[in-house]
Amino acid sequence: MIDIKGITKSFGKLEVLKGIDLHINKGEVVSIVGPSGAGKTTLLQIIGTLDKPDSGDITIDGIDVSQLSTKKLSDFRNQHLGFVFQFHQLLPEFTALENIMIPAFISGQSRSEAKARAEELLDFMNLSERANHKPAELSGGEKQRVAVARALVNHPAVILADEPSGSLDTKNKAELHQLFFDLRDKFGQTFVIVTHDEELAKTTDRTIHLKDGLIIGETTKDGDREHNNDEINEI
Ligand SMILES: Nc1ncnc2c1ncn2[C@@H]1O[C@H](COP(=O)(O)OP(=O)(O)OP(=O)(O)O)[C@@H](O)[C@H]1O
Ligand SMILES: [Mg+2]
Repeated sequence: MIDIKGITKSFGKLEVLKGIDLHINKGEVVSIVGPSGAGKTTLLQIIGTLDKPDSGDITIDGIDVSQLSTKKLSDFRNQHLGFVFQFHQLLPEFTALENIMIPAFISGQSRSEAKARAEELLDFMNLSERANHKPAELSGGEKQRVAVARALVNHPAVILADEPSGSLDTKNKAELHQLFFDLRDKFGQTFVIVTHDEELAKTTDRTIHLKDGLIIGETTKDGDREHNNDEINEI
């Protein structure tokens, strides 16, 4: 599903990613963890084609994204990827329903198609009652669920999330995490989640440990550890 080979990225003299190789299977829920500054967000932005690597290749859903023009890339993102950020980034002047519909409009769906899909997602998120509320009238957990619905509206194969539960309390956090697994089970989506939340990381199928721009190892849900265990244990 996602194939990453030899990704490097520097900002000026700072080498942020020093050669990342990673394969993620369809329907896998993968977490990326590591200290602040390790390069997690940079890697996620590159996987999400929001930033370009200095070298290396990325294939997503069978498409070599490094070969796409800027216009083709934005279409690719709209159709294949969904993004969830730490702070929901909903548009304040639009209702929950409208926020969810926007990516569907961009993809060329009609108003009635987009509305039907957005309502289906709101229902799935138990948010039908809140459809006509603006973000300021929603709780933190509700806003984040709307953001997840917006990410899903075009049936993307891959959801990329950067600290999705970072701004939520324990209960909302647990609900959001459960939602990711429900979505995977129901729609077969692939999730790549950057997180500092150990509880979330433990529940994902596989955790990638990033440090100083390199993958120093990975752990799987059943506790198998590969590569450099000592270093992972320190984090
Ligand atoms: N656009 C940029 N220009 C210059 N430096 C950058 C830029 N983006 C990130 N960096 C630097 O690259 C390094 C990695 O940043 P990144 O945001 O990927 O870290 P992170 O692992 O997501 O950290 P955190 O857990 O704090 O979010 C940091 O030292 C950061 O300051
Ligand atoms: Mg980050």
